[in-house]
Amino acid sequence: MAKIIGGVATSHVPAIGRAIAKELQADPYWAPFFEGYAPLHRWLAQARPDVVVVFYNDHGLNFFLDKMPTFAVGAAETYRNADEGWGIPEVPPFTGQRELSWHLINSLVAEDFDLTTCQEMLVDHAFTLPMALCWPDQRWPVTVVPVCINTVQFPLPSAARCWRLGEAVGRAVRHWDSDARVMVLGTGGLSHQLDGQRAGFINRDFDRAFMQSLIDDPTWATRFSIPELVEKTGTQGVELLMWLAMRGALGEQVHEVSRNYHIPISNTAAGLMVLATDD
Ligand code: DHB
Ligand code: FE
Repeated sequence: MAKIIGGVATSHVPAIGRAIAKELQADPYWAPFFEGYAPLHRWLAQARPDVVVVFYNDHGLNFFLDKMPTFAVGAAETYRNADEGWGIPEVPPFTGQRELSWHLINSLVAEDFDLTTCQEMLVDHAFTLPMALCWPDQRWPVTVVPVCINTVQFPLPSAARCWRLGEAVGRAVRHWDSDARVMVLGTGGLSHQLDGQRAGFINRDFDRAFMQSLIDDPTWATRFSIPELVEKTGTQGVELLMWLAMRGALGEQVHEVSRNYHIPISNTAAGLMVLATDD
C-alpha cells in the first residue's frame, strides 16, 4: 500500500513568483522568507516523495464566480499553469497521477463527499509557487493530484469539513495499491486580508497558535466557524483551511521537521511547516 511520508504547508503569495523570476532570494526583504525553505529541501532530498497531493485554492484561473465547486479533484494527464495577471512567469507543466486521482475520487464519493472531477484543469499560483518552493529547479520529480478547496466565494466549507476531507484523503491514499511515497502539500495563509477596510490585517498571535496546534492539538481550529476565522485571520487568511486538510491527511503521529514564520510578504504573514509521519 502507498505510504504518506509527510506533509508541507506553505503560503503562496504571488510576489514569490516574481522574486524567483528576478532571483531576489538573497535580497534583504526576501532572505528571511527563502532561508526558511533550506530545511525543507534537505528533508525532501531524504524523504524522496514520488507523488504529491496538493490542497490549494484556485483564485479565478480555473474556476470563476459563475461556477465554483466546494471541492474539486484533478484527474488530468497534465496540469498547465497560465497567465493569471500577477506578472508571474509560467512554470513547466505538471504530470498527473491519474490512478491516484481516480482512487481518491472513488473513495471520497463513497464517503459522501460531493466533488467536481476535473479531467482538464489549469493550476494557479496557489499550486505552482509552493511546488517551485519545494523544487526550485522546476524539474518536478513527482507526479501530482490537485485537490481544490473553495475559499474564494461564500459559502465556504467549514474547518471541520476540511479536516474530515483531509482525513478521508489520508485514508484513501493509505489504501491505494501502490508502493508510492506520497507527500501532502497544503497551500495558503497565513493571516491576510487583501480587501476592504481591514486590508493589510495580520494576526501574529493567532497564526502562531494555529501552527503550534498542528503539532499539539490538530483539530483546534475546527472549533471556529468561517466568520470567526475571517475575523481572526482576515478574509484571505481562511486559506489556512488547506493547512488543516493537509494535517488531517497525515494521521495521528507526526513530528515537526521545521517551521518558519515571517511578516510580511506582500500583505501576508508567510508561514511554512514541514511535518514527517512517524510510521
Ligand atoms: C497575496 C496573498 C495571497 O494568498 C494571494 O492569493 C494573492 C495575494 C498577497 O499577499 O499579495
Ligand atoms: Fe491566496
